[in-house]
Amino acid sequence: MTLIDGKATAAAIKAEIKQEVEQIVASGGKRPHLAAVLVGHDGGSETYVKNKVLACEACGFRSTLLRYEDDITEDQLLDVVRQLNDDPSVDGFIVQLPLPGHISEQKVIQAIDYRKDVDGFHPINVGRMAIGLPAFISATPLGILTLLQRYNIPTSGRKVVILGRSNIVGKPMAQLMMQKQYGDATVTVLHSHSQNIREECRQADVLIAAMGRPASVTADMVKPGATVIDVGTTRVPDATRKTGFRLQGDVDFDAVAPKCSAITPVPGGVGPMTICMLMLNTLKAGKKEIY
Ligand code: GUN
Repeated sequence: MTLIDGKATAAAIKAEIKQEVEQIVASGGKRPHLAAVLVGHDGGSETYVKNKVLACEACGFRSTLLRYEDDITEDQLLDVVRQLNDDPSVDGFIVQLPLPGHISEQKVIQAIDYRKDVDGFHPINVGRMAIGLPAFISATPLGILTLLQRYNIPTSGRKVVILGRSNIVGKPMAQLMMQKQYGDATVTVLHSHSQNIREECRQADVLIAAMGRPASVTADMVKPGATVIDVGTTRVPDATRKTGFRLQGDVDFDAVAPKCSAITPVPGGVGPMTICMLMLNTLKAGKKEIY
């Protein structure tokens, strides 16, 4: 069984990015600049954004963190987005989700200039990605594809089963997996109203769990020799930790791992790759590759 090391893979890619950035700067080019907007004090979002800023440092990027309290109005936040759209020093930016209930996430996403939308959430990027045109591709699915490539795990003609249909992971993952230039796979998407989930999962050569239900992929759902990718990162209480919690994936790792040919751990699997792909998208934005 191969343990897919997302942390090491992400570190290697960030070193490659840094090398390219220093070459760009040495030849008189502009250092890529990522801005992140964080609303409120959600613990998970705070950690993600902190790690994104640290990743920018590792890649030699400039980064700017813009923080607002969770009573910011939708109009005020839309103004922040417009200012970032118009700021030529900013190559790309993200608005960390989730947003407070009184703000429409879709309105905010659609206000972002798609050429700076390094999350790949804007409908123009989603649509372009879906028909195979150049686009910012959302970071988690791109990170999963990259891990599979770097570990020489084939998907072409294989059966890929995706658990979850979110706009951020499940849907774009399915789109990319079915496209000839990316996964070239036969794709099944399962969700909370799917039937025969266990039987469907047992068909998978590659099983991608992204439904946000801790430890719900059990050994009886996995075909011997399958590759299992765990996107889950639920905080569950753990009195033995200083923080009082630990991150739990969607996969019952201890039971499932012995059956797999390869599996991602949580933490240290998909998570670091997601942030790393955001860095790759920021480099792309700096080079103005999406226009
Ligand atoms: N919240 C959870 N994942 C993400 C992400 O990839 N980008 C943003 N902006 N918010 C998130």
